Amino acid sequence: MSGQTMIGVIGGSGLYEIAGLEDANWVDVESPWGAPSDQILTGSLGGVAMAFLPRHGRGHVHSPTTVPYRANIDALKRLGVTDVISVSACGSFRDAMAPGDFVVVDQFVDRTIAREKSFFGMGCVAHVSVAHPTCPRLSDACETAARDAGVTVHRGGTYLAMEGPQFSTLAESRMYREVWGCDVIGMTNMPEAKLAREAELCYASVAMITDYDSWHPDHGEVDVTQIIATLMGNAEKARTMVAGLPALLGADRETCPHGCDRALEYAILTAPEK
Ligand code: ADE
Repeated sequence: MSGQTMIGVIGGSGLYEIAGLEDANWVDVESPWGAPSDQILTGSLGGVAMAFLPRHGRGHVHSPTTVPYRANIDALKRLGVTDVISVSACGSFRDAMAPGDFVVVDQFVDRTIAREKSFFGMGCVAHVSVAHPTCPRLSDACETAARDAGVTVHRGGTYLAMEGPQFSTLAESRMYREVWGCDVIGMTNMPEAKLAREAELCYASVAMITDYDSWHPDHGEVDVTQIIATLMGNAEKARTMVAGLPALLGADRETCPHGCDRALEYAILTAPEK
């Protein structure tokens, strides 16, 4: 199956627009799952269709818990998005993953507890695999685009998704790092990644490291001022990375070699209606 690429960027704190977008237009998208976080900015870049959704809304009005994850993914799907790139601020559990670096994560530990996590349940039951929750093809493009933007990039890493909105205690931070072997921590990539898989969308996640959470003996505990200061220094690089994606992905799209776009093929248990 072939078709047209449409890149959907879900921007977190610090990324509220796409630079150089042609025919840019903020559009309302209705979804049976409620209203998305905001209008969606559509346009094209280098001949490739783009859509941008500020995860927390313009003005940062949604907390990680109240972000309407299902409406966001559904709205992107309805617009025709094929490839979702998540950009978000994260804490680091590794010395080598320093503030200012980007990590193209490939695994998640989901510790969120107060969010709707599936499109399926009442009436139609489906169990998709999220053993490999990110798309390697899309992650390749993110890695290359970030390197080309001059960023120090780490390929692969486990993202601990916490509920928030408070940051972790020292004991939690140590446990996630030393016992669970996680690499970065954030509050927003789950259930987003799971829902993207249910919607048969390719999904890649770029974690912009802003702090060392609270475990690091040489750094104080994380606070919002520190996060914003690092993000401000990085916003330009994030925008350059996004601007590099269309040339890497191309306007014409083949079937995903990793099967992201066929995730429901063997997942639905409910019998079809007669
Ligand atoms: N976002 C940025 N830094 C974070 C941290 N240390 N914990 C959770 N979310 C974050």
